[in-house]
Amino acid sequence: MWKGRFAKATADLVQQYGESISYDWRLYKHDVNGSIAHARAQVKAGLLTEEEFSSIEKGLREVEAEIEGGNFAFSIELEDIHMNIESALTKKIGAAGAKLHTARSRNDQVATDTRLYCREEIDALTGQLSELQSALLAQSAKHAASVLPGYTHLQRGQPVTIGHHLLAYVEMLDRDKARLADCRKRVNVSPLGSGALAGSTINLDRQQIADELGFDRVTTNSMDAISDRDYIAEFLFAMALVGTHLSRLSEDLILWCSSEFGFATLSDAHTTGSSLMPQKKNPDVCEITRGKTGRLYGNLVALLTAAKGLPLTYNRDLQEDKEPLFDSIDTLKIALAVNTEMIADMEINVDVCEAAASDPLLLATDLADYLVKNGVPFRQAHELVGLAVAESVKTQNPLDQLDLTSLSEHYGADAKDVFDLQTALAARTNPGAPSIENVKSEVARWQTSLD
Ligand code: ARG
Repeated sequence: MWKGRFAKATADLVQQYGESISYDWRLYKHDVNGSIAHARAQVKAGLLTEEEFSSIEKGLREVEAEIEGGNFAFSIELEDIHMNIESALTKKIGAAGAKLHTARSRNDQVATDTRLYCREEIDALTGQLSELQSALLAQSAKHAASVLPGYTHLQRGQPVTIGHHLLAYVEMLDRDKARLADCRKRVNVSPLGSGALAGSTINLDRQQIADELGFDRVTTNSMDAISDRDYIAEFLFAMALVGTHLSRLSEDLILWCSSEFGFATLSDAHTTGSSLMPQKKNPDVCEITRGKTGRLYGNLVALLTAAKGLPLTYNRDLQEDKEPLFDSIDTLKIALAVNTEMIADMEINVDVCEAAASDPLLLATDLADYLVKNGVPFRQAHELVGLAVAESVKTQNPLDQLDLTSLSEHYGADAKDVFDLQTALAARTNPGAPSIENVKSEVARWQTSLD
């Protein structure tokens, strides 16, 4: 492609070192679509005849079909997907193919292809996030009223319901979708026409190309356009944060499936056994998800690090943007798919959850609130209940069995009514709190918004 200036062929090792075709082949569809839009603008500019355009379009669609069908011979001598496709086209159609690269560089070409690719994958991931939300929502609907201890510091804190706990993840995934939607705005901008770095003396209609490719607008600085990888970094961050959320969910489920908790049982289809210990049923999917989150973080850091020292404009370092991007997308897609199935098939052990939630200590805060309602300042109420808890621990007498009236004049005979779990949950009616009524209305809200 650059034979004019060179007297020697590229060394084999350099070819192996610099090729990207082994992974950027997956941009082929976007490369073909970008080239067709570019060629159409060349017709408008009087650079190609209608006949030449038709043969370019037909040739490119043929190349696309060959790649799709696995019948295309990729060559590492041609480095990347852009040169592989252009060379195959020229072999097919001759002279017209050699005109295609007018007023274009691989620098604006690769940026265009990558943006088209990211846009498609953002849309696919958004759909998958909705599916996982729906699976969580179905369990939340089923268990809107199933009581569960809520934890802080992994110590029992206050009562909630399974529905409330799982809806927390629906919220997280919704923010993930919003982040992807916001990132998409900056992805969906057309750099084509920025050339190698300074546009071209041959002016093609950039807006026409952008419209044809479904971009919202064209970039406004050629130097920025071809060296900008912010949109990839943002996308990688959005995916890394999805990973954080999936990893936290995984950790909850690992705990819930342990003999110690026993709150949930995963399907045999989504667990694995031990080659040695016959009794084992391991939550490997959760562990793999937690583990793979590390690569999502690594991919983000790899890109940020590759970009940080680069002077304007294009430097070959930027070719390092693709493998992290592709890896994060592949990793997240299968993680979302398998987690969606696993959540849908998960059984909640309602009785075990209920037994754990019946620990009267979960209502110690409610007892302090009772004292506050009787006019005791909260700090004093906290201390009084703390003393009662200490008494309960010392005497091994559950908190709800103590004679509270003997501990302080502020307790009335009605103090023990505090320990009714259903009443305690029902009192949590403020927006965002887990009264069963609230949880049910949140389930209904999500059902409408996810439809
Ligand atoms: N394969 C290259 C990449 O991914 C395409 C752009 C190459 N441009 C260049 N001037 N070498 O970045």
